Amino acid sequence: MRNWMNIAGRLALWTACLLAPSADAKGATGAGEASGSSPNNMLIATISPSELLRSTPAASILESTYPTEELHRLFDDWRETFGRSYESDPPHEAALRKLTFLKNHAFIEEHNQAGHDWKLGHNEFSDLSQEEFMERMKLGKHSPGVFKPRGRSDGRLVSAGARSLRSLAADVEEDEFEGNAGEYDDLEVPDEKNWVEEGAVSSVKNQWFCGACWAFSAVGAIEGARAIKTGNLTDLSMQQLLDCDDTDMGCGGGLMNWAFQYDEDSVGLCSLNDYPYAYHRHWFWGCSRYAPYCTPIPDTRVSKYVNITETEEDLKAAIAIQPVSVAVMADGVSWQFYRDGIYSSPCEDPKTINHGVLAVGYGSDENGDYWLVKNSWGGYWGQGGYIKLGRNVGSESVGGSSCILTLASRPILKDEE
Ligand SMILES: *[C@@H]1O[C@H](CO)[C@@H](O)[C@H](O)[C@H]1NC(C)=O
Ligand SMILES: *[C@@H]1O[C@H](CO)[C@@H](O)[C@H](O)[C@H]1NC(C)=O
Repeated sequence: MRNWMNIAGRLALWTACLLAPSADAKGATGAGEASGSSPNNMLIATISPSELLRSTPAASILESTYPTEELHRLFDDWRETFGRSYESDPPHEAALRKLTFLKNHAFIEEHNQAGHDWKLGHNEFSDLSQEEFMERMKLGKHSPGVFKPRGRSDGRLVSAGARSLRSLAADVEEDEFEGNAGEYDDLEVPDEKNWVEEGAVSSVKNQWFCGACWAFSAVGAIEGARAIKTGNLTDLSMQQLLDCDDTDMGCGGGLMNWAFQYDEDSVGLCSLNDYPYAYHRHWFWGCSRYAPYCTPIPDTRVSKYVNITETEEDLKAAIAIQPVSVAVMADGVSWQFYRDGIYSSPCEDPKTINHGVLAVGYGSDENGDYWLVKNSWGGYWGQGGYIKLGRNVGSESVGGSSCILTLASRPILKDEE
C-alpha cells in the first residue's frame, strides 16, 4: 500500500531542498521544518521542471530511485497504465516528463489534502505542464478566438468570431432568433435529471489533441435529441463536422451553434462507425472524399437551435428537455486533473470561455447542487469522463460555475417521415 501522506511529505521536502540549492541560511535550515509547517508555500514555490533539469543531469533524474523509490514506482505505474515509454525520446525529454509528472503529483496531493469538496487525480495528461496542456487542448490564450465573445447586448453574448456567421439571420425566420425567456414557464421541471441513466448519452469520447470540443458537444446534443425522439441511441460522426462544416475550423476550434447550423443545411449526420474520428481534419477535399461513403442516419437533421437564456432556471428547464450544448471556462490545472466532487469556479469574465461540452443532467448530492457535464477528454478524466459543476452558485457568479450559463443551446430535430 502506498502511504500518500508520506509520499507527499517527502516530495515537499524534496522540492524544498532543491528549491534552495544555493542554500541561503533560511532555506537550508528551514527545509525540514517547513515541510511540516507550511507545505503550501513550499509546493507553490517549486521551481519548474525545466529549470530543475538545467541544474540536474537527465540521467540522474531517470535513475530508478530518483527522487524516492515510491515516487519512481508511482510514475512507472502511471506510464504502464497509459502506455507511455519515452524510449524513443532523448533522455532530456524523458526526464522532463518525469519531473513534470512529479510536479503535477505534488499539486494533486496538496489539493486533495487541503479539504476541498472536489478532488484531483492523475489521468493521461499527468506528464504535461499546465501550459502544454492548454496549448494542446487549444485553451486559454491558445484558444483560436471563436470563443471570444466581444461583449454582451441584452444580457446575451454576442459572438465575435474570427469568421462571421454566414448570414444566419437570413437563413432562419426572425422569430426563431428571439430569446427563450419565459419559454419554460409552463413546463414541469423535475428536481433531478440524468440523461445518462435514461439512455440518451453515448459513451465518453476523447478528442485528443485536436481542438474539436465543439464537434463533440454538438454531436452529443444531436445524439441525445435523436435518442429521446426515436428511442435509438447511435453514435454519430464528429469527423463529418470537422471535415464538412466550413464555418467552423476543425481542430482549430468552433462553435456548437455553427455545427447545428451546418447540420440544418446538410443531409444529416452519418454514424461514428461509418465516418470515424481521425484525430485531425482531413484537409483539402476531406469532406467530398469521405462523406459520400456513408449514409446519413435518419432523424439527425436539425430544424433549428435554441439559445438558452443565462439563468440557472432556464438551463435546468432546457436540460429537462434534452442534453444541452454548453461552453465553459476550463481553467487550467483544476480542469486538467479534476477527479470528483462538485467543481465550482466563478465566472469572472465570460470572455474566457474556451471549451465546449455537453450538459446531460442536474441534481444534488451531499456537497450541493450540480450540473452533470460530459467532457471529451476520455474516460480516465474526471468521473469516468464526466464533471459535476456547481449549480445555484448565487449572484456572485452571474454566468454560472465555470461560465456554464453563458453560451448554452440545444438543437431541435426536423420532423421526418
Ligand atoms: C444564439 O446566440 C448567438 C450569440 O451567442 C447568436 O449569434 C445567434 O444568432 C443566436 N441564435 C439564435 C437562434 O438565437
Ligand atoms: C438504431 O439506429 C441505427 C441507425 O439508423 C440502426 O442501424 C440500428 O439498427 C438502430 N437500432 C435499433 C435497436 O433499432
